Order: sequence, then C-alpha cells, then structure tokens
Amino acid sequence: MGWKTLDDMELDGKRVLVRVDINVPVEDGVVTDTTRIERLIPTVDDIQEAGGKVILMAHFGRPKGQVVPELSLVHIAQTVADVLEVPVSFADSDYAEALSEMDDDEVLLLENLRFNPGEEQNDIAFAKRLASLADIYCNDAFSAAHRAHASTEAIARLLPACAGRLMQEELGALEKALETPQRPVVAVVGGAKVSTKLDLLGNLVEKVDTLVIGGGMANTFLAAQGIDVGKSLCEHDLVDTAREIASKADAAGCKILLPNDVVVAREFKAGADAQTVAAANVPADSMILDAGPDAVAAISAAFEASRTLVWNGPLGAFEIEPFDTATNAAAAKAATLSKSGALISVAGGGDTVAALNKAGAADDFTYISTAGGAFLEWMEGKDLPGVAALKS
Ligand code: 3PG
Repeated sequence: MGWKTLDDMELDGKRVLVRVDINVPVEDGVVTDTTRIERLIPTVDDIQEAGGKVILMAHFGRPKGQVVPELSLVHIAQTVADVLEVPVSFADSDYAEALSEMDDDEVLLLENLRFNPGEEQNDIAFAKRLASLADIYCNDAFSAAHRAHASTEAIARLLPACAGRLMQEELGALEKALETPQRPVVAVVGGAKVSTKLDLLGNLVEKVDTLVIGGGMANTFLAAQGIDVGKSLCEHDLVDTAREIASKADAAGCKILLPNDVVVAREFKAGADAQTVAAANVPADSMILDAGPDAVAAISAAFEASRTLVWNGPLGAFEIEPFDTATNAAAAKAATLSKSGALISVAGGGDTVAALNKAGAADDFTYISTAGGAFLEWMEGKDLPGVAALKS
C-alpha cells in the first residue's frame, strides 16, 4: 500500500484535518445527490469514536481564487450536518476563532478552499496555514486526488498524513480492478470523443483482455476500418490514431469489440424515428445514436467470459430514449453477473454513474467510484498527486 490509514494514527485528543470532496450537484439551492457526503460517514465516525476532533476542508466549483458567494460551502453545511448526523459549525476566513469555539462532538467545516488562490497554486504558505489548525492530516478525497493543490499535496508534507476510509476503499477497489485483477478483464469505454480518452485507451489495451468501445468514439474506430458512418459524430482527423490504438491492442493481445450493428436516426431527439442497421450500412443521411442488439449480445458474452469489468462512459446517447437501450441492457447484464458473484465490476465517472443509476444497475455493481476526473486519470495509468503525497 505504502501509505498510512486512520488505524495507524493516535487520534485521541487530536485535531484531524480531513480533506473531503463535497463538490456535489446543487439545483435551486438544494443538493440533488448526497452520495459524496454519505460516503464520508465512516471516516468522521471513526475519528470521533477514537476521541479525535474533525475539521473538514473542501472545494466547491471553480471560483479560481476569488470569493464567489454562490460557491460558498455555507450553503451546504446543513446538508453535511443532516447526512453525517453531527452538528456542523462553519469557519469562513477566521479559522482560529471558529476552532476555539468548537464543541467536542461538533465538526468544523472550512470555507471553500478555492476562494484562496494559494489552494490551486499548491502554495506552501497556504498549506502551512491549514496545517496549523490540526495535529493530523487525513485525505479522504480520492475524487480530488488528481489535483496537486495545497490541501491535497503540499499539506501532506507538513503533518503526519493518512488516508481516510473512503480513500482506502477507492484505492482498494481500483487496485483490484486494474493492478491485480482476476482475469480475464473487460473494459467498457464509451462517450462522445476519442480525443478526450486517448491516454486512457492507450493504457487500457495493455492491461485488459477485451476492450469494448462504445458511444460516439466507436464511430471514429468504425471509420478507421473504412466504414462510412453517414452523419454520425466522428473525429475523422483521428482515424490514424484509432488505427494505431487498434494495432497496439493487437500486439498486446487485447481484443477490441466494436458494435457490429447500430441504431440510427435522422435527428437527435427523444422518440426520433430509429432503425437498427449493420454498422457497415449506415444510411448517408443518418447518425449512429446507440449500439444495436447484436452488439449488446456480443458485449454480454464478453462480460460472461470475464471475471473483472471496468466501466467508463455510456454506449449510446443514453440521456434520451430510445438511445439508452444498449447502455441499459449491458448495465443490467453486468449487474446480474456481479450480484451472482461471477463478475467484479467497477465503474466511475459522472456520466457513467448517472447512466448506471438510470439503468437501475448501480446498486448491484461491486464498486462505484465517487470520482470523475480522478477516475479517468487513474484509468490512464497516471500517478495521482494526492495519492503520491500520502505515500512519501
Ligand atoms: C470532481 O467533481 O470531479 C472533483 O471535485 C474535482 O473537481 P475539479 O475538476 O473542479 O478539480
């Protein structure tokens, strides 16, 4: 592992500064998904039960070093209190005063770290100011670990540092999925564009046995095989890159699975007139919006033949019906296999989790990461600065 956990720390009577990710979706002032807050409960409980005091620090949105009142964490403090079932007090800029007024059973939440330019600059002076509040630093924000910021990187060098329970859980699950997986491993990579997932595809073909490519990016791979994809979303300037990825996969013994049939329509709107055609027969005036039933059958067979599944990105335009069909069917298959113990399934990324939730499949997956960008960077094989800092 190479890093410490809460079990390695003497917590009794200590102040523990915990970096969390409560960058949650908010609509009209209401938090619409509390998952990221719920997942912090074990860390907060374990510190308090061991006699430690919890100080939470987090970012919210991208205020870029400015005070942006709408992005204040004060708006979220009550939800944090309700979900964690602890009283939460709030510190805007006078951290020291808030700290001195803190009750033993209370959790202190600091104002949005990104209001201070030092946060994103990984500024050691800002990190020192934060470190002066506590005896121990605990990083429980895997989903922000791809950022080298004062609260995720510099501070780990200033205080005895450990991983929180959620960080531990995320790293454990991800290691099992790609570093030391039960084989064969299948990965599903979907989404609109190849260009955003080049590093990821390049890394995966060397690690997995089967790579299912779906969504708009599959069109670029089909075009690379000389197939006319009509009006489909397609990065024609990347067909050579797609060919390179395909030959790298060949050399590594990784099978790339592209849809052999697709669902097409003339317009991209809910309930549009859709038809299923062979991938090689896309009408010139139509666009591919989902994978077809044969493709789903092939994906399901690949899941059945595998022991581990890593999933990032939907297979079609899942936000609108009927183009969510392939994503829903493949997700249901993965959920059934996972529930029976036949498959270890790990998924991450904002869109992916939304798609799996919509399909009603997320609960039966072995592990759903709370991370978006960090999950992608981890799939790309990158060292995440927040994790690396815990190791050093
Ligand atoms: C996320 O929501 O993925 C994390 O909180 C990171 O946010 P960021 O992309 O603004 O750094």
